[in-house]
Amino acid sequence: MSAVKKKEVRRVTTHVLRNMKVKGEKISMLTAYDYSFARILDDAGVDVLLVGDSAANVVHGHETTLPITLNQMITHANAVVKGAGRALIVVDLPFGTYQGDSKNALKSAIRIMKESGAHAVKLEGGEFVLDSVKRIISAGIPVMGHLGLMPQSIYKYGTYSVRAREEAEAKQLLVDARKLEKAGCFALVLEKIPQSLATEVTQMLRIPTIGIGAGPGCDGQVLVSHDMLGINKEFSPRFLRRYASLYDIMKEAVSHYIQDVKAKDFPREDEAY
Ligand code: KIV
Repeated sequence: MSAVKKKEVRRVTTHVLRNMKVKGEKISMLTAYDYSFARILDDAGVDVLLVGDSAANVVHGHETTLPITLNQMITHANAVVKGAGRALIVVDLPFGTYQGDSKNALKSAIRIMKESGAHAVKLEGGEFVLDSVKRIISAGIPVMGHLGLMPQSIYKYGTYSVRAREEAEAKQLLVDARKLEKAGCFALVLEKIPQSLATEVTQMLRIPTIGIGAGPGCDGQVLVSHDMLGINKEFSPRFLRRYASLYDIMKEAVSHYIQDVKAKDFPREDEAY
């Protein structure tokens, strides 16, 4: 009997993303935090899977992203890596693991790469995290930047509203974007900024931009999977397009199951041994 030939899948790399920008092909990115989700999203053909620190909200039930730990992020990332054969897997460095101490930042990034098998890390901030970005990249670890609304700084802003509407903040964002590209970031997430500014950043940079609430001018888009699949019903900002209503579908299925158990209709004899 001849061996079954496994279908060869080419992994998306940071170079592939750069070429997609050159060719004008949009990049799709979604969050994943576990094996089963990663399999489904990867099978569907998503280009990048982000093990986002939004796991703090949608998996662990925290109000902000601040409490999630490096160990928890590594556990999530490890499961995602096992589920995805094609997508580039990027992992958020959680709050407190990279700010203000570039040696600690490198240690955190190395732990993620070694213990999870992921391909890159993401961190929030511009000029003030540049030393960390440079040190991580110097160790051969690809870094994705993140500007605009930075949820790890929520207590500094006080709100999750649109950032960089004012000229001074917009100017600083342009400076930060340039510096992150120069430092060697392979891509940049732009969260909740005016679309005109996101388009300007995208045209100014050679690395791809991935927008969330930043309009159609970005090179790619990212959403939190639980939001776009309608698992999380309470969150409905203008930028979110819902592609399913899984909360309702799952609730109905579970109610049906409960009914069947209570009515002694499940399991039947042909569903037993
Ligand atoms: O943690 C996350 O899910 C993110 C995306 C919203 C970009 O950082």
